[in-house]
Amino acid sequence: MRRLDNKVAVITGGAGGIGTATAHLFAEQGAKVVLIDVDETALKEVASGIAKVAPEAQVAWLAVDLGDEASAKAVVGHALERFGRIDVLVNNAGLRSYEPLDGAKAETWDRLLSVNLLSYAYLVREALPALRKSGKGSIVNISSTHAFNPRAGMGQYDVTKAGIISLTKTLAFEEAERGVRVNAVCPGATLTPFHIRRFAADGKSENDLRNEQLNQNIQRRWADPREIAYPILWLASEEASFVTASVIMADGGTRV
Ligand SMILES: NC(=O)c1ccc[n+]([C@@H]2O[C@H](COP(=O)([O-])OP(=O)(O)OC[C@H]3O[C@@H](n4cnc5c(N)ncnc54)[C@H](O)[C@@H]3O)[C@@H](O)[C@H]2O)c1
Repeated sequence: MRRLDNKVAVITGGAGGIGTATAHLFAEQGAKVVLIDVDETALKEVASGIAKVAPEAQVAWLAVDLGDEASAKAVVGHALERFGRIDVLVNNAGLRSYEPLDGAKAETWDRLLSVNLLSYAYLVREALPALRKSGKGSIVNISSTHAFNPRAGMGQYDVTKAGIISLTKTLAFEEAERGVRVNAVCPGATLTPFHIRRFAADGKSENDLRNEQLNQNIQRRWADPREIAYPILWLASEEASFVTASVIMADGGTRV
């Protein structure tokens, strides 16, 4: 028996670094996976990458902009049409912005709040009937170590990540009686293609980053996306049946 056998999991941001690692791990553990992302080309690549290593895996995908409230209904409709149930929802899609608060633009605030926070709330609202029906529903919201350790220069992003913690706890309290667990994972620096591309612009290679001694955490390194996917898997699985309203820091021990 694998850890997610017979479960259907929706993963947003499924074409990104942490979403892809989570999708691979979930498929290896027996889940039917529904990948959601705005990037259709990347979604197809992730789905075919999983099929290569796990030909028996069942993977569906849908390209939508989660910043649009109507997408939440489309996502849930697609998952139910393809697999007939939803047991796990991993809210993971996210955008960054690098505007200091003294110059933060309204349009950036709107976009960050819509994608990073409201999309989580709308998708939960639409998926809850199916998650309740599952009897073992689990929501895993991906926040960030910077929900608790905010820094200069990324205030808009950090506010959305702090909001996700509040959303997680409120939802856990509201849904406990209906059997849906709700938890958050807070990654720290994780070496995803986004960061690899970002640092390539400064002339740093992926290898440079892997060998770098980070000051940000006590392990002094970047995480591999799979190191974030494992705590997500655990919270999604029934091994975490007594865990709800909780926040797991997967940040290598961030220094405040
Ligand atoms: N990588 C890190 O160091 C790190 C650290 C802390 C928290 N996180 C969080 O983990 C999550 C995943 O991060 P990642 O590093 O894998 O990022 P990523 O940029 O690789 O992936 C995010 C994915 O979300 C998708 N997305 C963005 N806007 C969307 C929209 N409007 N609709 C649908 N999809 C959309 C992107 O296309 C992308 O595939 C994010 O919420 C991020 O904030 C990451």
